Order: sequence, then C-alpha cells, then structure tokens
Amino acid sequence: MIEVQRFHAIAPSNIALLKYWGKQAGGEQWPANASLSLTLHTLHTATVAHRNHEGEHQVTLNGQRIYRGEAGAQKIFRHLDRLTTVAACSNKLTITTKNSFPTACGIASSASGFAALTIAGLAACYGTESLRVLADEYEWTAARMADLARLGSGSACRSFWGGFVQWSPGSRPDAQTYTQVYDHTYWPLWDTVVLVASGSKPILSSAGHEHAWSSPLFAPRLAGMAEKLQQFCAALTHRDLGRLGPLLEQEALEMHGVMMSAEPSTRYFGGETAAVLAWLRRLRHDEGLQLYFTLDAGPNIHILGEHGDQQRLHHRLAQDFPHYPYLCDSVGAGPQLRLLDNEDASWSAEPCRL
Ligand code: PMV
Repeated sequence: MIEVQRFHAIAPSNIALLKYWGKQAGGEQWPANASLSLTLHTLHTATVAHRNHEGEHQVTLNGQRIYRGEAGAQKIFRHLDRLTTVAACSNKLTITTKNSFPTACGIASSASGFAALTIAGLAACYGTESLRVLADEYEWTAARMADLARLGSGSACRSFWGGFVQWSPGSRPDAQTYTQVYDHTYWPLWDTVVLVASGSKPILSSAGHEHAWSSPLFAPRLAGMAEKLQQFCAALTHRDLGRLGPLLEQEALEMHGVMMSAEPSTRYFGGETAAVLAWLRRLRHDEGLQLYFTLDAGPNIHILGEHGDQQRLHHRLAQDFPHYPYLCDSVGAGPQLRLLDNEDASWSAEPCRL
C-alpha cells in the first residue's frame, strides 16, 4: 500500500484577554476596538485539504460529512468559496478537519477552525506544504492569511501568531493590523478550561456583535478601551499577574454586561458558571493563589495562572467540582503545517478529567 503523506495545517485556538465584541459598519469584519489575546498550545484544529474534481467542496468535520446549506456549515462553505476565488483556484477543495478537544464540550472552535482552514486551503490551492513558500512565492504572509481568515471568524485572525497578539481596527476596514506583542517564550502562563457547558443557549456571535451597539454600556466601554489596552500592555510588560488578573476578570464581566444589556439581551452563562467564579475568588482570598478567570461567549471558564498554582487549582477542582471536566493548556507558538498521524496523541488537548 502506498503511504500518502498528508500535511495538516495545525492552528491553535486563542483566548482574548481584552475582548473583541462589536464591529464597525463597513464590512470586512471591522472590529469596534482593539483586542489582545493569548495563543493556546494544545487546543487546536488540524485540517488537511486537497483539490478535487467534484464540482463542490467536500467537508468532513470531526469525522462527520457536512453539506452546504446545513445550519452551521454555510460559513465554512462560504469561506472555501472566498478562498478558492482569491487564490484563483479552479478546483473545489476536499477538507478533513478535526479539533484536538472533545466535540460538544462547549469550546468554540471557530478561531482555530478558520485559521486552519485558511492555511490548509491555500496550501492545497498552490500545491505547497510550506508556510515559507506560501509567504515568499505567493505573498501569503501571516497578516494576509489573517485578513482572509478574519472574514470567516473575526477572532481567527489572532491565531496566526504565537504568544500574545494584538488585533487593531486601523482607520479603514482594509487597514486592520496584527502585532505579536510577545512570543510564546515570554511568559509561560497556564490556562485551565473548566467545562461547565450548560447555561442558556447562546446566539451566534455574528448576531451578538451587531446587537452590542444597542447596549447602554457599549459606548462608555469603547470610550475607555484605549486606556484599558495600555493597562493590559503594562501588566504584560512587567509579567505582573497581580496586575493582569483583575483587569482580565473585569474585562470578561464587562463584555458579558454588554451582552446581557443589549437588545435582545443574551446571557451566555448561568448559575453553574457564576458559582465557579465565586469559588475561584474565595480560593484566591483564602489560599493566596494567583489565579484569575476570563470567559468567552459561553459558559466555560478559562482560569489563568502560573504552573504551581495551576496544580493546586486542579487538586481543588477535583475536590469541589468533581463533576466538571477540565482541559489544561498553556501559551502556544502559533500555527504550522506538518505531518500528523491520524491519532497524534501528543497534540491532543489533555482532557485532565473527562
Ligand atoms: O470570532 P467571533 O466572531 O466568533 O467573535 C468572538 C468574540 C469573543 O470570542 C467573544 C471575544 C474575542 O475577542 O475572541
């Protein structure tokens, strides 16, 4: 049997420290404010693509074939249409994509998913297995790929770099910029994702971004964003968790405040999440642990801290919330194209307790 080598695009997920919520008019996913994220290491999507002669894209997501027109699949097919058009590729693409984390555990995969789809799709269109060739010969730099991935999912654009990444709106929709503020070696933070995975059913983030403007909290939020960004950057500069942590928690709650006070009001988490947040604050107070939470548009809790405190956290989680699984992650180096076995265990997000 001939062994066919398949190069996978591996793109990490990222967790926003300073959040992107709300876009400006003008299209091209133009955010209302700058955001700052931490690129993750093990939470990622692995995607392989090749050109086909079928007349339609063929997409298999976590082992299941999906079709254009199905709810949730349209964004992916639209992105493939956009990608093959811009790369002047006359074929459709066959895509196999898999997340490193368990499906249906409530972790959004759109950032890693659209980043991996963009890299794998372009690699297939140009027939290359090298990110360097994509950049040097076809001018697909990380920033240009991020511009394209962003059209599928805004937060995907920050997954093209490792470490700490800033996405800024610029003065025009086509003048958005990305900056790797620090690489993954700068500050080895850990992220434990507690999978509460229940709570009220979220609306799609694309609708949520539009509704943000109807919240009375949104204009004051935007007015304070430049200063807040500076505060986040100062905390990063000093690698000062005692300074970063309170900013992180306040920012997550402010975003959820905007979501809840928008019209229609959207609540992405319920009492189970709130109970863990209160528990974490008690743990910090009673045991002096430097652990701080942030939230995405969902009920699961990202708890950031440094190595020793994370170990203590896992012990206490097992004691106090034995029914919640959690995933352990850290700061990652960014995307790559590489050979990957079907079951590449070394790259699976460790379900610490599933
Ligand atoms: O990338 P989208 O359109 O799914 O928006 C996600 C926005 C948040 O995850 C809630 C915040 C962020 O900056 O990633």
